[in-house]
Amino acid sequence: MAQDVKSDLNFGDQYSAWVNERHITDTEEDVYVEQIKSLGYAIIEDNYDASDLKFIRKNIDKIYARQVDEIGGEHHLTEIGDANIARQLLAYDDFFLDCATNEKVLGIVRRLMGDYFVLYQQTANLHKPGVVHTTHPWHRDLTFWHYTSSRPLAMTALHVIDDYTDDCALKILPATHLREDFPSNAYVDNNAVKVSAKAGTIIVFNSMMFHRAPYNYSNEVKRSMPHFYTMHLIRQEISLPRILGGKWSHDPFLRRFLGYDIMSQDSVVDWRLEKLSNKRKTLKAH
Ligand SMILES: [Fe+2]
Repeated sequence: MAQDVKSDLNFGDQYSAWVNERHITDTEEDVYVEQIKSLGYAIIEDNYDASDLKFIRKNIDKIYARQVDEIGGEHHLTEIGDANIARQLLAYDDFFLDCATNEKVLGIVRRLMGDYFVLYQQTANLHKPGVVHTTHPWHRDLTFWHYTSSRPLAMTALHVIDDYTDDCALKILPATHLREDFPSNAYVDNNAVKVSAKAGTIIVFNSMMFHRAPYNYSNEVKRSMPHFYTMHLIRQEISLPRILGGKWSHDPFLRRFLGYDIMSQDSVVDWRLEKLSNKRKTLKAH
C-alpha cells in the first residue's frame, strides 16, 4: 500500500530539474526559435483564411500553367526534373509578396540568421494524386550540401495550402541540421516524424534538416509553397531583380530582401557603376 511521503521538498512539478542554467521563453517567437535551434523545425498554425487559400490555389495553378506554356510544354519540365513546380510566384502576382514577407516567419528568420537574408526562391509544389515528384526523396533544401554551421545558412518556410493529413503528412528527421551526413536506414526508421498540417499552417525549418514530401495517395492535388531565405552570399539561381525589373527596389528592406543588392554583374565596370548608383553605405574619413 502506498504511503504519503512527508517532506518540504516538491519534486512533483513537471519542470523540476537538477540544473544550474535554464532557458526561459517569454514569447511565442521565443518558443519557435528554441525549438528550431534544437530540433530544426517549428509549426505555426492558422496563417490564411479560406478565401486566401482559395485565391492561392487558383493562382498557383494559373502560374504553373503559364510557366508550362512559356517553356513549350510540360514534357520539357519532366525532362529536367522540374514538373509540378511553379517558381517565383511574386513576379506573377503581388499577393505572393505578402506571403514571402509574413511577419511571424521573418521575425523567426531574423532571430536565427541576423538582419541580412535574401529571398532565394518562392516556389509552389503541386503534389498530384499518384504522380512522382522530385521532392519525394529525403533531401535538404540546400541539396547535396553536407555542412553544419553556427547559424542557419538558409531557412525554409513551407506554407501548407491543402490539408496534409496523416496519410500524406510531410516527413522530417528532427535535429539532422546538426549533422553533416545523411543518417543510416536504422536511424531513419527510428526517428522519422510525420508532420500533419492543416491548410494555412506554416512549417518553418532550418533548410539543412532532412525532410521529404509526402507521396499523394489522395484524390486531390496537395499544394504547398516553400519559401527559401538564404544568407546574402548565396546567389539566387533565378534572379528576382532581373525578373522584377526594379519593382519594389525603392523600399530599403525589399531592395535587400529581393536581392537587388547582391546581383551578379557582367564586368568590373558594371559592378562599380551599380555600387555608385545604389550606395549601401556612406564612407567617411576618420
Ligand atoms: Fe524540401
